[in-house]
Amino acid sequence: MLRAPVPVAPVQIDSETLTGEEEIGAGTGLNLPHYGAGARLVFAEPEPAMADRLRRRAAELGREVEVVEAPAEALPFADDSFDAVVSTLVLCTVPDPAAALAEVRRVLRPGGALHFCEHVRADSRLLATWQDRLRRPWAALGGGCQCNRPTVALMGEAGFALRELRKESWRGMPPLVRPLAYGVAVPRLR
Ligand SMILES: C[S@@+](CC[C@H](N)C(=O)[O-])C[C@H]1O[C@@H](n2cnc3c(N)ncnc32)[C@H](O)[C@@H]1O
Repeated sequence: MLRAPVPVAPVQIDSETLTGEEEIGAGTGLNLPHYGAGARLVFAEPEPAMADRLRRRAAELGREVEVVEAPAEALPFADDSFDAVVSTLVLCTVPDPAAALAEVRRVLRPGGALHFCEHVRADSRLLATWQDRLRRPWAALGGGCQCNRPTVALMGEAGFALRELRKESWRGMPPLVRPLAYGVAVPRLR
C-alpha cells in the first residue's frame, strides 16, 4: 500500500501484487516508506539534489531502488515497462504535462495504471478565475507550480480513462491549490 504524504489524499496501491512501479517527480522520496516490498521500484526525479536525497533516504531505509535523473517528459524506459506509475504533486509543475502523460502511457504495461494525487483547477468558476489571475505570482513562489492547471482533463486528452476520481479540499493549504484530486487513470484502448 502506498500513501502519499498529504494529509487528506492517500494514494492506495496494493504493491504486493505488482512487479514494477515507477514514480515520476519523486522529489526526496517522501513516498518511499509507503511502498510494499517486492516490486521493482524506479524513481524518476530531474533535480540532482533531490535525487541525491532520495538515494540517501532509500539507503537509510534499506530499500533497493533505481533513481534516474530524468524529467517526466522524457522517461528513459522501454515501452510497457511498469504495472503502475505514481505521481503526487508533480503534474502541476512539469513544463509540458501532455508530453509527460504521453510518456506515462507509453511506459505502462497493458493493464497498468497511473495512480495520482494532484491539486487541480477548481470546479468553482470564481476560484478558477482567481487561479488564472494569480497563476504567475504563485508559480514564481512555488517553483513553477501552475495552480490553474486542469490536470484531470489533460489526462482525458492524453488517452486515459478515470477508473477512480475523488476531489478533496486540501486542508492547511490556500484555496489557490484546491481541490486535490486523487485517483486511478488507465490508458484507453488505442
Ligand atoms: C512538489 S514536489 C513533489 C515531490 C514528490 N512527488 C512528493 O510528493 O513529495 C514536485 C516535484 O516535481 C519535480 N519536477 C519538476 N519538473 C519536473 C519534470 N519536468 N518532470 C518530472 N518531475 C519534475 C520537482 O523536481 C519536484 O521533485
